[in-house]
Amino acid sequence: MVRYTSSILLASLAATSVWAASSPPSCSTSSQCPEEYPCCSQYGQCGTGAYCLGGCDPISSYSLDSCVGEPVCQSKTYKWDSLDSAALNTKYLGNASEYDWVYSGYPKLDDGNLLLTMPKNTVGTLFANNHYVWYGKISGKVKSSRGAGVVTAFILLSDVKDEIDFEWIGADLANVQTNYYWQGVLNYNNGDKDAVNGSDTFDDWHEYEIDWKEDAITWSVDGQVKRTLTKESTWNETAKRYQYPQSPSRMQLSLWPAGQASNAPGTIEWAGGEIDWDSQDIKDKGYYYATFSDITVECYDAPNGTVSNGNKSYMFTNKDGLQQSVQITNNDTVLASFGATGLDMDLGASDSSSSGTNGTVPENQGGSGNVPGSSSSSSSTTSGSSSTSSGFSQGSSTDTSGAPSQNERVMRGSFFAALVAVVVLVAL
Ligand SMILES: *[C@@H]1O[C@H](CO)[C@@H](O)[C@H](O)[C@H]1NC(C)=O
Ligand SMILES: *[C@@H]1O[C@H](CO)[C@@H](O)[C@H](O)[C@H]1NC(C)=O
Ligand SMILES: *[C@@H]1O[C@H](CO)[C@@H](O)[C@H](O)[C@H]1NC(C)=O
Ligand SMILES: *[C@@H]1O[C@H](CO)[C@@H](O)[C@H](O)[C@H]1NC(C)=O
Ligand SMILES: *[C@@H]1O[C@H](CO)[C@@H](O)[C@H](O)[C@H]1NC(C)=O
Ligand SMILES: *[C@@H]1O[C@H](CO)[C@@H](O)[C@H](O)[C@H]1NC(C)=O
Ligand SMILES: *[C@@H]1O[C@H](CO)[C@@H](O)[C@H](O)[C@H]1NC(C)=O
Repeated sequence: MVRYTSSILLASLAATSVWAASSPPSCSTSSQCPEEYPCCSQYGQCGTGAYCLGGCDPISSYSLDSCVGEPVCQSKTYKWDSLDSAALNTKYLGNASEYDWVYSGYPKLDDGNLLLTMPKNTVGTLFANNHYVWYGKISGKVKSSRGAGVVTAFILLSDVKDEIDFEWIGADLANVQTNYYWQGVLNYNNGDKDAVNGSDTFDDWHEYEIDWKEDAITWSVDGQVKRTLTKESTWNETAKRYQYPQSPSRMQLSLWPAGQASNAPGTIEWAGGEIDWDSQDIKDKGYYYATFSDITVECYDAPNGTVSNGNKSYMFTNKDGLQQSVQITNNDTVLASFGATGLDMDLGASDSSSSGTNGTVPENQGGSGNVPGSSSSSSSTTSGSSSTSSGFSQGSSTDTSGAPSQNERVMRGSFFAALVAVVVLVAL
């Protein structure tokens, strides 16, 4: 009997580790997470703890309250005298008052500036703000990275994958790219490219600003408006909706190897070619790098008519993911452990080991949100939302989770990406 029990135990242990070694449940807008791993991370994997924090997609999660509330907007200028307000993603449990930022990778301080670095053969750095902006103006002084295949990003990304971008392609230092997405729906007409004055975006500081209002977005460089997108212009007559970024979004800074050889051909092409891991910057410094000086966030008022029951966090009340479904609540944003979720935020409060530094966290694979040339969008739900799969991975070097290997994910992403790339080539 004992033997029998233990063999069942062994068998179930084996099954568990097989599960852990292959993949956690994945999720999309048409396939929500199970109750025991209720939170759908930004990258479409189900889990608890960090999976329920920034990036947790309420539409693809078990229920709308599986994800923790999104900390409300905070007007502030960020300076870089220390990294005390930044937490590694394996330590952060949702206290945005304690940590303004959460990161993976290799941020550094350099003479009062923030360097995002990408050492040889790594996936770079992702530096995300923990306060959501629900309309507002973000501006930053930036020197981009350089080199083929290296992409620097300064973006706003929502948990339902609305997105507003500035992106610098390291092979084209004369321009900055602007882009936007509504709920992750891929549209190759959304992107644009603007010339930046001066010698180049690597050598010169420029101030980049995204002014996000309810009725229009402007992208400016050094105080000059380069691009305007009106909400009006995003009307989809078929679906009777504005495909305009409209949900609370986190500011994200990142540096990533879009041109790494394992990525989708479309992504590598967009990034200006394959990355050179023996470039001058790698030889001289040991890494590629992008430099950020002061970053300022100015919050605007919530839209007229917004239901407000508090002032701590934004929550979605409807799976359509639209502006009118966002409420301001007093829901807390801090989990007690990496086993806790929005459904049971106090779980593991007494168990100190589970709130330590070794929780499983989503492997970041998309510091830049939706990726040109590598994403597949399949409109599979009535709300018109789509799931996206990313063709590259961006993970913390210390990640020891049972998530699928990066190669496995890259393969999966690349398959779609290759398809998309072919379609795009044909369309061209
Ligand atoms: C969050 O951190 C702040 C500052 O460290 C602290 O005062 C507060 O009690 C923390 N909140 C929670 C819920 O842990
Ligand atoms: C950029 O250069 C153009 C052409 O030389 C000039 O007209 C424009 O004023 C410059 N803009 C800024 C912000 O310096
Ligand atoms: C407009 O909505 C329809 C119906 O959901 C969708 O098939 C179509 O792709 C949308 N158009 C754009 C440009 O996204
Ligand atoms: C919101 O309400 C204020 C005050 O009533 C008004 O001035 C403003 O134009 C309204 N904004 C929108 C977008 O309707
Ligand atoms: C949030 O609301 C509480 C209670 O209504 C109030 O005491 C507090 O000052 C508010 N906080 C902010 C930042 O507005
Ligand atoms: C979160 O806020 C919503 C809306 O105010 C409320 O119905 C719900 O009970 C809250 N959840 C928690 C865990 O406090
Ligand atoms: C997690 O960390 C705690 C202390 O930080 C340690 O006691 C525990 O063994 C670790 N658990 C795992 C699974 O590594």
